[in-house]
Parts: sequence; C-alpha cells; structure tokens
Amino acid sequence: MKRIFSGIQPSGTLTLGNYLGAMKHFVDLQNDHDCFFCIVDQHAITVPQDRLELRRNTKSLAALYIASGIDPERSTLFIQSEVPAHAQLAWIMQCVSYIGELERMTQFKDKSSGKEAVSSALLTYPPLMAADILLYGTDIVPVGEDQKQHLELTRNLAERFNRLYNDIFTLPEVRIPKVGARIMSLTEPDKKMSKSNENAKSYISMLDEPKIIRKKIKSAVTDSDQQIAFDPDQKPGVSNLLTIFSLCTGRSIDDLVLDYQDKGYGEFKADTAEAVVAVLEPIQKRYEELINSDELDLILDNGAEKAQAASYKMLKKAEKAVGLGRKR
Ligand code: TYM
Repeated sequence: MKRIFSGIQPSGTLTLGNYLGAMKHFVDLQNDHDCFFCIVDQHAITVPQDRLELRRNTKSLAALYIASGIDPERSTLFIQSEVPAHAQLAWIMQCVSYIGELERMTQFKDKSSGKEAVSSALLTYPPLMAADILLYGTDIVPVGEDQKQHLELTRNLAERFNRLYNDIFTLPEVRIPKVGARIMSLTEPDKKMSKSNENAKSYISMLDEPKIIRKKIKSAVTDSDQQIAFDPDQKPGVSNLLTIFSLCTGRSIDDLVLDYQDKGYGEFKADTAEAVVAVLEPIQKRYEELINSDELDLILDNGAEKAQAASYKMLKKAEKAVGLGRKR
C-alpha cells in the first residue's frame, strides 16, 4: 500500500479552498493508502501567533480533520510538535539546502516582501516541510497548487541528500487535483482564497454559518455580462463559483454550464451557496460534537505515538548517514 503524507497549518480556521483543494482528497485517499495527516503547528509559528489562539486552532483543525471524514482507525492524525523527529530531521535538511533556492520560493517572497522583521524560519520553512514528508518514506503528497514548488524542492533536497550521503529517502510524487487546486478569493478572483486574508468576505470558512455562506456567495465578485461560462482568464469570478459548485455536487462543470446558460447570476449564486451549505453543514455538526470531547485528545495521543514509531527509524538512518552521534 502506498504511503501518503500531507499537512495543514493551524493558522486560522480552514477555508473552503483548503477543504476542496486538500482535505476532501485526503478523505478519499485513505481508503486505499496508508495515510499520515499532520497539523503543522511548527510551520505556523514561522509568523507571529497568539499562544492561546494557536492552541485553539490546533485543536479545531484536529476536529475538522475528523469531522470531514478522516477516520483515525485507518489514518494517523497527529500534531507536528508532538513528534520531535520532524524538527530534528529539519535541521539536517537545512544543512543540505542552499539559501539561494530557499529565497526563490514564491511563498517566502510573498510573505516576506515589504516586511522589516522576517523570521529566519520563514526562509527555512521548506526544509521542515521536506522533513515532514521524507521521515515517513512518503510516496504521494496530496496538496493544492500553491504547494507545488515546495514539493519540487523536497524532491531536490531528497535527491541531493541521497547522492551526498546514502540513498535512504523515497522521492515523493506530488498529487494536485485536476479541478479545485486553486480556489480563488470571492472578492478578488485573481487571487487565491486564503485564511490569512484580512477581508472575511474573501473566503468561506469551514465553520461559517449557512446564512453567512449565502451572504458571502451572493456578494461574490463576478462580471457584468450575465453569461454563465467557464473561462478562468476572462471570467475568473464565475469560473471560480462553477468550480466550487461542481466540487460540492459532483456534477461536471460542462453540465452546470448547460443547465445555467439561460439563468441569471442570482439563481446561479443561490444554488452554488446551497451546494456549499449541503457539504459544510454536516461537517459543522460533527465538529461541534467533537471539539470539546475527550475523544479528540485520545485520537491525537494515539496518532502521536504511531507517528513517533513510524518516523524514528528514518531519523536514525539520516543521522547515521551524515555521521551524527556515536556509532552503535
Ligand atoms: P496550508 O496550511 O496553507 O494549506 C493546506 C492545504 O490546502 C491547500 N490550499 C488550497 N487548495 C486550493 N485552493 C486554495 N485556495 C487553497 N489554499 C490552500 C494547500 O495547497 C495545502 O495542500 N506548507 C503547507 C503545509 C505543510 C505540508 C507539509 C503539506 C507542511 N508540511 C507536508 C504537505 C506535506 C501549507 O502551508 O499548507
């Protein structure tokens, strides 16, 4: 069975973009893969976080994973900081990374541009991500489009390590969905939907109440020609809504375009909103049951133990390959 690894940062509540681009696929993949899903809290502190909020978001993300359908009997769900091998291997991966290649990462450029004080960890974020993946002998990493560059770097670092020291790392394959790899902002459809955006109207949070979801989709930016067609360049707003509608119902975009060609934007938006509500409402109900339960802590304790056992061997192999510690 192939090994899957993916992670999500606990920085703010997840958006519909995170769900449609990543989490939804995790749920499908766990049927026939050996899956590890991680709450990457150490990645989240590369930018300032409020301590209490980070704790809340970490727990909330764990509940959302389970509420969305991650089955702890089949998949391992854990918190990154509870498995020390991640930070330990990250240090080794930093030692084989070049500053130049890290500075070329789009996410680093976006997050650091115009800022006076940028943490060095924002630059060394990708070697930690490489460590996450390589520790588990991962075959496939399901992510949205924005993580593609980090995955390419992970493969380069793994290759370099294997060549320099010993051939121990599996080169992971990136898996990006054909539809929904980049869900766009509702207010600026040329930008990706992001949980760090200051304007809450630009994204749908997975925990937004149905009436808020309806309101946000109703006011989503489209265009003035009243034609429902899929054309991401000329009609980014409508195309984004079509993508969301399609992923939430399982209907193809072509089928939706046919169905709505003679209807107005009002009806199209209202139906899109109902499709989103139908997906998120059951997840929210399950989330409410879980968030304050002991069950969640048990799942995370168990997950950390399993991840610890699965990652320890690779960490030791990597340390041995570079000559750290004593020979035993
Ligand atoms: P993060 O927390 O920003 O996002 C989690 C996942 O959601 C996807 N995503 C989107 N997909 C479609 N449309 C969008 N608008 C959208 N926004 C986000 C992301 O591509 C991602 O798959 N560095 C990673 C976390 C990470 C990781 C890893 C991932 C750490 N270690 C190891 C995979 C493997 C991140 O910041 O994702």
